[in-house]
Amino acid sequence: MRIKFITPALIFAAAVSLGLAAAPANAANASGMMKSSGMMNVSNMMSNRGCTACHAESNKVVGPAWGWVAYRYKGENHQKAVQAVAKFIIVGGTGYWSKWTGSMPMPSHPNISRKQVDAIATWILKQPPIKPPKS
Ligand code: HEC
Repeated sequence: MRIKFITPALIFAAAVSLGLAAAPANAANASGMMKSSGMMNVSNMMSNRGCTACHAESNKVVGPAWGWVAYRYKGENHQKAVQAVAKFIIVGGTGYWSKWTGSMPMPSHPNISRKQVDAIATWILKQPPIKPPKS
């Protein structure tokens, strides 16, 4: 009977070769590494969360360029600026940028962790400041 050769080890080997077993193992390693080192890949986080659909480094897409946001807060207390930007990412809405965006609202992101949103806000504020064009 051929069937008795299908052992759990063979099934595992087949799963690995299909990438089925390897994928969750890698994901577990990756999140373990992030926890232990405290390192987060902000640009991955932002593309996973869809930020890059509406934002780019130096030009307006739907929302302001990261450089414009850095310019807005240039010279302000860094911690306060991080708090303000982090809060805006969580609650969303319209406001300061309406002139440039035609009052398009920024969606809210209530499910983002404090650690992630702080890392994102810090990264945005570190981008080279760009003066927004006259609206
Ligand atoms: C559907 C499009 C859209 C998406 C998706 C989006 N944004 Fe925005 N974002 C906007 C718009 C529009 C504004 C301008 C809001 C205003 O008028 O103040 C904005 C504004 C901002 C600002 C400026 C805040 C300030 O204090 O000046 C930051 C920072 C920002 N977004 C970050 C993010 C991040 C991070 C994500 C992903 C988690 C994201 N956005 C996703 C459209 C978007």
